[in-house]
Amino acid sequence: MKLIGNASVQVGETAVETANLVAARISQQMTDQPASVLGLATGGTPVAVYQQLVRLHRQNGLSFSRVHTFNLDEYVGLAADHPQSYRMFMREQLFDSVDVDPERTFVPDGVASDLAAAAADHENAIRDQGGIDLQLLGIGQNGHIAFNEPGSALDSRTRVVDLTSSTIQANARFFADAAEVPTRAITMGIGTILESKSIVVMATGAAKAEIVRRALVGEETRDCPASYLRRHDGVTWYLDREAASQL
Ligand code: F6R
Repeated sequence: MKLIGNASVQVGETAVETANLVAARISQQMTDQPASVLGLATGGTPVAVYQQLVRLHRQNGLSFSRVHTFNLDEYVGLAADHPQSYRMFMREQLFDSVDVDPERTFVPDGVASDLAAAAADHENAIRDQGGIDLQLLGIGQNGHIAFNEPGSALDSRTRVVDLTSSTIQANARFFADAAEVPTRAITMGIGTILESKSIVVMATGAAKAEIVRRALVGEETRDCPASYLRRHDGVTWYLDREAASQL
């Protein structure tokens, strides 16, 4: 573990080793505080983390029965049962394989008739649980955290956002037809994320090396929303060798 600014940085040899370190951190949090409030991310990066958490549940009895979970974001227009919705992703990767109470899992409602109210509901539900204890984040190649794209404000809250064309393109890999890729999402804000007690950011692969460098040691700017994470003194970055290669 080394320090860059006020961020702790832990480098694993491979993506799988890095995911196992993140899973160990989350499982430690749950052991120390079984009623933890966990903030969760989707995307390709955390898949191996969830696989390891499912293994720890099955083999070591790691229990999710008292946790509450809050996901960072959901696509606008995709219902919970849509195969590409983030609710479905979480069910497939984690929720349906562990003993979490579905009533305690919160993903923003992307098909609400009043999307602004759905965003406010997510924000209020986090507050009702006393805030997030441990928030897991990935990072977009453009520096986004959750769907806070470049230009997002430091004090932004959970809201409806337009996705940038680079994010839409990156997400297209999960859809059969490019025309089906949603262009808007409900996302937790940067201000919301920074209120979490601890934050874990995970990045793997050479394609993330440049943005990891900018986020950690580049200029702090709204052009790279992840650079705002240095405002928080409880952030740990978990990187594989490739993602750490420009540090
Ligand atoms: C996911 C999310 C996004 C991803 C980011 C990286 O809930 O909010 O910010 O963490 O786009 O995605 P991957 O892991 O697919 O590279």
